[in-house]
Amino acid sequence: MKNLLEVKHLTVQVGQKVLLDDVSFGAPEGKITALVGSSGSGKTTVANSILGLLPAALEITKGEILFEQRNLLSLNKEQMRFLRGGHIAMIFQEPLWAFDPLMTIGQQMDEVLAAHTSQGKSDRRRRVLDVLAKVQLPNPTDMADRYPHQLSGGQRQRAMMAQALVAAPALILADEPTSNLDVTLQAKIMDLFRQFKKEEMSMLLISHDWGMVAHLADEVIILQNGQVVESGSVDLIMNHPRHKYTQSLMEVF
Ligand SMILES: Nc1ncnc2c1ncn2[C@@H]1O[C@H](COP(=O)(O)OP(=O)(O)OP(=O)(O)O)[C@@H](O)[C@H]1O
Ligand SMILES: [Mg+2]
Repeated sequence: MKNLLEVKHLTVQVGQKVLLDDVSFGAPEGKITALVGSSGSGKTTVANSILGLLPAALEITKGEILFEQRNLLSLNKEQMRFLRGGHIAMIFQEPLWAFDPLMTIGQQMDEVLAAHTSQGKSDRRRRVLDVLAKVQLPNPTDMADRYPHQLSGGQRQRAMMAQALVAAPALILADEPTSNLDVTLQAKIMDLFRQFKKEEMSMLLISHDWGMVAHLADEVIILQNGQVVESGSVDLIMNHPRHKYTQSLMEVF
């Protein structure tokens, strides 16, 4: 199994405080890898490190992040910007961060496509509407012409998903992607994620939801206080959790 993404010995500090401590794991090509841990364990910090979006106070003091064999930490801002959206896309925990408040959803998705593909205007419009429909937004044409604040929280979460998916990135980082959605919509979004595997997209899925992890993930990584305490196939982790912390996480659900 080839790893599309490899995080090696990643250490992140804020001053002397260590937030991620020697974190290593791989995300295999065409698979869903779940990153699980309680609140504050460092999941979002892992995702932000991969995307080069850490807040200024946080510093990577050690490690490598290899994507398609290139160390992302050695890329400059311009190169990272090119990778984001086109090759690696993020479904953020806080949807408002992902959008420019002054542009419609459709304009923002079109911008991503224009930057990362050679499609003409009408093809891009078709793709935008198609992806909005895929994420279960009703009336895609209407949604495309709205501004981010004109959507409900759950609609905004799906619009952000559409924005992340529109240029068919190789790797999707999804941070609690269904937390604002009702159960029916959650199930539909899970179906959509399952399809990614057929399209050979890889995903790093950050989730508290063991039901979702059990249904979707191939591999699981357990993070506690910034350290990987256990990792392995979903069957192994669900059926034979070795670490006390993993057992306690599962008991809560
Ligand atoms: N800008 C910052 N300055 C100082 N500490 C920070 C900063 N951002 C995050 N942290 C700390 O880093 C740790 C990990 O935070 P992170 O957001 O990665 O957790 P998480 O696992 O995503 O949690 P949640 O499930 O609540 O989203 C926390 O202890 C948090 O307080
Ligand atoms: Mg988080």
